[in-house]
Amino acid sequence: MNLTLLGGPGAGKGTQAKRLLEKYRLLHISTGDILRQAIKDGTPLGLQAERYLKSGELVPDAIMLGIIEERLAQPDAAAGAIFDGFPRTLPQADGLEALLRKRKSRLNLCLSLEVPDELIIKRLSSRRICNQCGADYNVISNPPPADGKCLKCGGQIIQRADDFEETIRNRLAVYRRQTKPLQDYYSGRGLLRVVDGNQTVDDIFAKLCQTIDDHLKESAGN
Ligand code: AP5
Ligand code: MG
Repeated sequence: MNLTLLGGPGAGKGTQAKRLLEKYRLLHISTGDILRQAIKDGTPLGLQAERYLKSGELVPDAIMLGIIEERLAQPDAAAGAIFDGFPRTLPQADGLEALLRKRKSRLNLCLSLEVPDELIIKRLSSRRICNQCGADYNVISNPPPADGKCLKCGGQIIQRADDFEETIRNRLAVYRRQTKPLQDYYSGRGLLRVVDGNQTVDDIFAKLCQTIDDHLKESAGN
């Protein structure tokens, strides 16, 4: 099974993907995490990608499709994946379809999380992360320790470079312009399921699982 999580910045894609991969035993492919790791490691990819992430613009499609092709070629991708933050443009969606077809596979569902802009700005400007293990903190709902050290690994807790209000607003504009049209793309293929992302993490997870399980039952019946 291959799933993609669509949704604006801070819609909850990463939070839900981590839960879904445990339940459905799928590989989690977060293109944002891959790019942030490359930047941290100072690889050629990281050097190319850094300015895009800092401004909230998208990394060019050819680079992104190269990353996905390489990742899908690894043995742990054989059982299927949850794509988190990919595809983000129509050429990426076409490219993913072609890559999966080559592997005699296909995308089963596109799960789109809908969250109002003002809530996204609130969520993301209060988010903090560990720069070592990526653990998620939030100054409102899950405050980091006063010494700024991660409870899980002792790493430094920081604000993501793109989690400042001006950049969040640009990420929202980029989402509307380049990524939201994918809803029509997947709706036209019968794969789109829209889920209200303005609920508790548990309620959203329950709704996503129900949607996936309904799909699996339908496919088994055909
Ligand atoms: P990426 O890392 O994918 O960032 P994003 O899409 O902007 O989204 P986030 O990771 O910030 O949010 P999320 O939806 O995962 O939400 P999360 O669960 O963390 O991409 C970063 C950049 O990389 C892009 O801007 C671009 O430059 C580049 N890039 C990546 N992929 C690319 C591609 N395919 N093509 C080109 N460029 C690409 O939750 C957010 C916060 O809200 C957390 O603090 C969380 O705890 C909290 N939260 C989550 N759910 C809830 C809830 N239900 N209630 C309350 N709080 C919640
Ligand atoms: Mg994410």
